[in-house]
Amino acid sequence: MIIATQADVTKAVLSELERASDPRFRQIMSAFIRHLHDFARETRLTEQEFQTAVAYINALGQHTNENHNEAVLMSGTLGFSALVCLLNNGDNGQTETDASQLGPFWRMHSPPTKSGDSIVRSPTPGPALFVDAYYRDVHGKPIAGVEVDVWHSSPEGFYENQDPAQADMNLRGKFTTDASGHFSFRSVKPAGYPIPIDGPVGDLLRAQGRHNMRPAHLHFLAYKPGFKTLVSQVYPPDDKYIDTDVQFGVTRHLLGNFVRHDQGPAPAADVTPPWYSLTHNFVVETGVARLPRAPITGKAEGDRPEIPHLELA
Ligand SMILES: [Fe+2]
Repeated sequence: MIIATQADVTKAVLSELERASDPRFRQIMSAFIRHLHDFARETRLTEQEFQTAVAYINALGQHTNENHNEAVLMSGTLGFSALVCLLNNGDNGQTETDASQLGPFWRMHSPPTKSGDSIVRSPTPGPALFVDAYYRDVHGKPIAGVEVDVWHSSPEGFYENQDPAQADMNLRGKFTTDASGHFSFRSVKPAGYPIPIDGPVGDLLRAQGRHNMRPAHLHFLAYKPGFKTLVSQVYPPDDKYIDTDVQFGVTRHLLGNFVRHDQGPAPAADVTPPWYSLTHNFVVETGVARLPRAPITGKAEGDRPEIPHLELA
């Protein structure tokens, strides 16, 4: 159609969608176009602002490589990853859920590890942490044979893929639950960490006067055919950044019962206080088991990166 006014543009674009054969594609694109056009109308977006926005979208791709995914980071920073997660889990957003966002640091092929073993694979200073994890269905029945990937940052705030000083796959392991839905492992207590701010995500945080820290957490990814793959993060409630997570991942349900032990016998002879323990129960919904696309594929080489910390304005 030949366009007479700004209102006609939306009608013209929407009418082109009628040729699309996939109904779900039509539904998503129709809503996307309507909201996008209304966004420009509501804000009276200027031509210069539009050019700035296009440059930011280009920069998301330019800052992405095999070790880093700026688009995932931006989605988290806008709360969009958290929203999509909470809409799609916990009985489609009706109940609390153990689900959380995958984040940018899951790698395929974590080393298979026996229950009770350590995932510390190169010297990693920090207080010892002993974890017991239980996987049950929505009726409370233990699920055996769940493959669970575990990964987390070091007490210095680096995942092994970011940090050439750590062994390949340090602080990562793949466990299988036993008949009681359980496995355990030994590690070190992780620290919170800054997200990179050398791209558009950094510009956004600075413009908003936000910090760039995530609170400490453990990642879990549970896979078993017949169940919806459960991606979780568990947080120690006393972390300094627990209520201002730059990725909006913390829900009340994901606060873990991390217990500090200052005396008494430790679970291993070489451990001295203080050490920590965590027991956590996960509920897995029935559904389709599907491994996510791995956001990164490799480990960084060279020097350990220096990621600056932003403070709240
Ligand atoms: Fe993480």
